[in-house]
Amino acid sequence: MTQCTVQLGDRSYPIHIAPGLLSQRAPFDVLGDRPCLLLTDENLARLHLPRVQATLGLADDRCLIIPPGELQKSWDQAERLLDALLARHFARDGVLLTLGGGVIGDLGGFVAALYQRGIDFLQIPTTLLAQVDSSVGGKTAVNHPRGKNMIGAFHQPIAVIADLDTLATLPPRELRAGIAEVIKYGLLGDAAFFAWLETHLDALLRLDPDITAQTIAHCCQMKARIVAEDERETVGSGVRALLNLGHTFGHAIETHTGYTEWLHGEAVATGMVMAADCSARMGWITAETADRARDLIARAGLPVKPPPGMTVEGFKALMGHDKKVAKGRLRLVLMRALGQAELTADFDPAALDATLADAIA
Ligand code: NAD
Ligand code: GLY
Repeated sequence: MTQCTVQLGDRSYPIHIAPGLLSQRAPFDVLGDRPCLLLTDENLARLHLPRVQATLGLADDRCLIIPPGELQKSWDQAERLLDALLARHFARDGVLLTLGGGVIGDLGGFVAALYQRGIDFLQIPTTLLAQVDSSVGGKTAVNHPRGKNMIGAFHQPIAVIADLDTLATLPPRELRAGIAEVIKYGLLGDAAFFAWLETHLDALLRLDPDITAQTIAHCCQMKARIVAEDERETVGSGVRALLNLGHTFGHAIETHTGYTEWLHGEAVATGMVMAADCSARMGWITAETADRARDLIARAGLPVKPPPGMTVEGFKALMGHDKKVAKGRLRLVLMRALGQAELTADFDPAALDATLADAIA
């Protein structure tokens, strides 16, 4: 088993990464004998919930099961869940467990942050995306029709338990969406990892156990380091904002398509191609580096162009809702080199226009 720690003083927590964890009590020992409720979706309830229930002795009436999908990451669903917790007289010493992908983790974490001014929650991520990214770092949120993740809170989990066996049931499209976030780590901060991925992508696509475990551990270690350095994505720091490489473009695509047609990872994939293209147009990276980024993303079976129907002005209006906007100015995460991203407000507007125009052409 790999274990890394997100170092945040007295709020530090472990990330356990191994196959078979859902059947073992030890990673859940942090729960002690505290009351638990578990949030999951209908797919996970069918596929993996029984194992968790057996391990923890969790009765059916302790499990909150909602439909799957990004549309559940909504204020309405959060309110329903808060009501369910109240109806069960769930007390502040309770722990909310989230079994699922980033939607369940973000939504459940948000509910945990709000309920009675904040209760503990524990992440059990079951998608590649959630195991390498969303379950770690304490960003919780729901979407708003005007913008992705616009209503949220920072609220760290007390532990993350990533059972690699859960990935065996993941639909291939969801696996590819997770690979987008994996590639992101290489592009933003680790050229050697990017090159390693170029070699091992096919093994990752077929979920080779060693390559998958190494990939997840590496990404979690990178994320843990970044979160420890800049937990709340401080405006002046720009460290954690680097994890948003491709996201300003990607969130615009997700909002444009109403959070239904494109998976988050797919939108991020196209967004990273656009960020690389913009960086190349500004002379920050070579065209060859931008091509390497695009090629690996395409090899992973991910989209490299936005959906039809988007316009340059529409794109820019949606990008203006980004949480990285500061002092009224849009800030973009661009690439200075392979493995070296940078948050900047000083991008060339003409390069951005050309990037958008070329992408939608
Ligand atoms: P998801 O949570 O919607 O899960 C994808 C689909 O796969 C769902 O239908 C789910 O039921 C199903 N599923 C999950 N695990 C499965 C398994 N093991 N076997 C079979 N089916 C399974 O999608 P996601 O890609 O995990 O998460 C996307 C969300 O994560 C977005 O809302 C995004 O904004 C958020 N996110 C948050 C952060 C963060 O730091 N908090 C980081 C990245 C992404
Ligand atoms: N996925 C972006 C972040 O955690 O900051």
